[in-house]
Amino acid sequence: SAAGKAGHDHYMHKEIHEQPHALRQAISGRIDELSGKASLDIDLDDEFLKSIDEIQIVACGTSYHAGLYAKELIEPLVDITVRVDLASEYEVYDGYDARNTLVLAVTQSGETADTLSAIRRAKAPGMTTFAVTNTVGSTITREVDDSLFIKAGPEIGVAATKTFVSQVTALALFATYLGRVRGTLSAGDGADILENIRRLPNAVQSVLDSESQIKRLAKQYVDSDAFFFIGRGLAQPVALESALKLKEISYAHAEGFAAGELKHGPLALVTENTPVLAFLNESASPGETFNNVKEVESRGAPVIGLTTESNSGSFCKHSIDVPNLGRLGPLVSNVALQLFAYHVANEMGRPIDKPRNLAKSVTVE
Ligand code: G6P
Repeated sequence: SAAGKAGHDHYMHKEIHEQPHALRQAISGRIDELSGKASLDIDLDDEFLKSIDEIQIVACGTSYHAGLYAKELIEPLVDITVRVDLASEYEVYDGYDARNTLVLAVTQSGETADTLSAIRRAKAPGMTTFAVTNTVGSTITREVDDSLFIKAGPEIGVAATKTFVSQVTALALFATYLGRVRGTLSAGDGADILENIRRLPNAVQSVLDSESQIKRLAKQYVDSDAFFFIGRGLAQPVALESALKLKEISYAHAEGFAAGELKHGPLALVTENTPVLAFLNESASPGETFNNVKEVESRGAPVIGLTTESNSGSFCKHSIDVPNLGRLGPLVSNVALQLFAYHVANEMGRPIDKPRNLAKSVTVE
């Protein structure tokens, strides 16, 4: 109903704009800057969390991209190897030593069949399981050993927006928690990360405030042959997610690539009619990605740089600046590209909240 959309044309637009509020809910009461450790209501005991040497993340779709981002957040802070699997590809081999592994499902709905099935495969040899989810009382919460709620509020648009940002935020809190429990993260460094998490809602608001600029770019490039998104490190999963968002709701050809892989194939697709959206956030090796920007510019592609205030991309044809939030910077840039996807799809007159062939929650394998 129009009332449910609170004056927005689509739920997706409403949910994009709800993100500062959703993030405040996700972090409220969970930041303890004094100890540098997130206060999370986690039942898994510290002795267990100290004993593990691997985390296996299982997820689908947008939640898989949140899992990839989590790997980039956890591994530098914690002495644990993080493996991220698409839930539908997850396998447990006979004889696997289950004791030192935590299997972590990321699922907004808590009902995705592929993810539930992966968790059941992990439980068979006795692995400990954990869920990061938006939905209290969902099937996953009844099957795992413990859950962490992202508190994003209900999401109705099929394309996940606020739940992605809230998932990554909850996983960033979990990363600092683990680092402090295991002693690999100092109180000071933990406090720095928590400070950036605390600044997220306002940073996201500043992106929402620049919507008119993003809408203009969407109008300018709506008729392009294809859209490519490139990023490194923390920004690589965000490049994948931004491309997924655009293809889901606009049906345009959109692909995300690791920036360094461009020259190993995708570069063949680049023309003056394929805008390239490049993540140049401070925490995502902007210097190296800049080399890839030059590669595509020399093929005539228009580049939209996702930059931070300190490295504003005067070398790109266009740039969208976001506050520099360290390792969370690419997450803030993602919000700009949610708006870009929305406005491209809206220009095309697509049914944004209910794209053809897609479902909010897929309960078949
Ligand atoms: C469906 C939705 C996606 C979502 C995926 C995983 O495909 O259309 O937006 O990312 O399921 O959903 P989950 O609820 O497990 O996060």
